[in-house]
Amino acid sequence: MDKKKILSYETVALDEKEDAIVILDQTKLPGEVKLLHLREQKDMWQAIYLLQVRGAPAIGVFAAFALYLATKNINADTWEDFYPSFCEVKKYLNSSRPTAINLSWALNRMEKLAIDNRNKPIAEIKELLLKESKKIKAEDIWMCRQIGENGLTLLKDGDGILTHCNAGQLATSKYGTALAPIHLGVERGMNFRVFCDETRPLLQGARLSAFELIADGVDTNVICDNMASQVMKNGWVDVVFVGCDRVATNGDVCNKIGTSGVAILAKYYGIPFYVLGPTSTIDMSIEKGEDIVIEQRPPEEVTEMWYKQRMVPQGVKVYNPAFDFVDNELITGIVTEYGIARPPYTESLREIFRKKEKAKARL
Ligand code: MRU
Repeated sequence: MDKKKILSYETVALDEKEDAIVILDQTKLPGEVKLLHLREQKDMWQAIYLLQVRGAPAIGVFAAFALYLATKNINADTWEDFYPSFCEVKKYLNSSRPTAINLSWALNRMEKLAIDNRNKPIAEIKELLLKESKKIKAEDIWMCRQIGENGLTLLKDGDGILTHCNAGQLATSKYGTALAPIHLGVERGMNFRVFCDETRPLLQGARLSAFELIADGVDTNVICDNMASQVMKNGWVDVVFVGCDRVATNGDVCNKIGTSGVAILAKYYGIPFYVLGPTSTIDMSIEKGEDIVIEQRPPEEVTEMWYKQRMVPQGVKVYNPAFDFVDNELITGIVTEYGIARPPYTESLREIFRKKEKAKARL
């Protein structure tokens, strides 16, 4: 398969004829471009847990489609029969991964729509859920495009950019968040030099960011996570762009494990550190980073995955958190679809939501 075509692929798509969700299996990239057609609830749960679909916004879109498809099969004529089954599926899907808020955000949004229309016939509620899931995806594409535009105002031609994990096209419905300004800039003839931290233990940087950036013709450099300090010291990094899985109201940002270290290094070397994410990733119910539940992953991801044989002696304990959080004081700005929030975040994030509400009211 021609790698250059990757950006024309859809990360998450609903196949209405087949009643399936079609995803690019991200555990197989970059070696194999494999599409999965998922029809069963259990396979959808697994797809999230195993990171076949991953990245906060993509997980949200996927969950909305999954809830719609499961709902479609609920055999009920009344709200009283329908709603408990709906809640059961929602709870099951929500248990697949705890940290990225987009999962529960999308599921809650679908539930609210169902409740608001509880007096309508069940068949109509199902139709509305279908529309809502498609809307969640369309909005995700719009949000990422806007984040790309806003993020691009921070870049100059020729800049060196360091990124961690994959917050690109593969983590969203299109464009990405942290990588969106880069894709847009390239489209407009700009050149960048991008450093992708490999991102232990699941290598989202080495496998996925590098894959989509090189496919877009970007000067792509993969470094091991522990090399970030050296490339910064060399003066090769003008700015750091990362994504986010959940942002607290005080501006603390939860993202892939290792992000916090990158932010500390950037501060030391005087390099601006930006977080790029849609408002769907901002959790206004959470005050600070410490309140975010951090997913713990199986030890095998550290001890043997990617190696020909196990690399860690038997009996050794492994700590494998999937995420960490960055203290807001290390963050230069949070780039959203409604503009760039700057410290103090308690104020600026509220302002972003005010802009969002105003924009919604104009619709
Ligand atoms: O465990 P993953 O691969 O789902 O983690 C992904 C990240 O940490 C991304 O940076 C984040 O979800 C933002 S994606 C636009």
